[in-house]
Amino acid sequence: MAEKKVVEPRRPTDWALVEELLSSEEMRTMFLYGDPSLGKTYAAYHFGRTGEEIYAITLTEDTPAAELRGHYVPVEGELVWRDGPFTAAMRNGSRLVINEVTHGPPEAQSLLYPVLESIETARLTLPTNETVRPAPGFQVICTDNLTPDELPDALQDRFDCTIEVTEPHPNAFDKLPADLRQAARRSFALESARRVSIRRWLAIDRLRGKIGLRKACHAVLGPARGDQIMDALNLGKA
Ligand SMILES: Nc1ncnc2c1ncn2[C@@H]1O[C@H](COP(=O)(O)OP(=O)(O)O)[C@@H](O)[C@H]1O
Ligand SMILES: [Mg+2]
Repeated sequence: MAEKKVVEPRRPTDWALVEELLSSEEMRTMFLYGDPSLGKTYAAYHFGRTGEEIYAITLTEDTPAAELRGHYVPVEGELVWRDGPFTAAMRNGSRLVINEVTHGPPEAQSLLYPVLESIETARLTLPTNETVRPAPGFQVICTDNLTPDELPDALQDRFDCTIEVTEPHPNAFDKLPADLRQAARRSFALESARRVSIRRWLAIDRLRGKIGLRKACHAVLGPARGDQIMDALNLGKA
């Protein structure tokens, strides 16, 4: 007899904990992962460090390590060193946000080892021969759609906290008008393949004023899925 597959329900996200950790000076390194559009990058940019400069980068397989660490640039016939975001954030004691961290090439990931070290041992030696140590306040937040298993064990081990995001932050729903907010909340109760992301609800909201709700759903989700979602969520029926 075929074994019955047990799917463990995903735990709701403790957003209050995420906010508390992002506001804490004791929390140095965090890995936030989960489906797209749930607010991982938003949290990394906005929570805990309001009004402070944040250095952010999104990695792709083509991101050169020199873009992260820094490089020489010609200025009036001379080569002058320019810090990249990793170096600048360390030097200034700022928050460094690395989006899609598992997508970076191996050289970019290698740079993460010295950066994610404990405050006593983290350092970057530059081609200028300068060694940069983290100033107080330096924090690294990595976000990803993939799980931390995509990273080498030694890198996974360097994160103070690793948190899965499974649902949008409540404030994200508040950006929507009442009818779409209700539909969006209901859509997050559906299985994940049928959910409509906050980004898409925001796009539907922007377009509906010009072309109407149904056409906006068609434009954003495709005609068949747009109709399906409108029916499933009882949308557009006053
Ligand atoms: N806490 C929040 N408050 C307000 N808006 C939010 C919040 N979280 C997410 N959003 C909205 O949702 C969009 C998608 O969030 P984002 O952080 O880019 O998702 P992710 O990084 O998980 O793919 C954002 O551009 C923003 O408009
Ligand atoms: Mg993101």
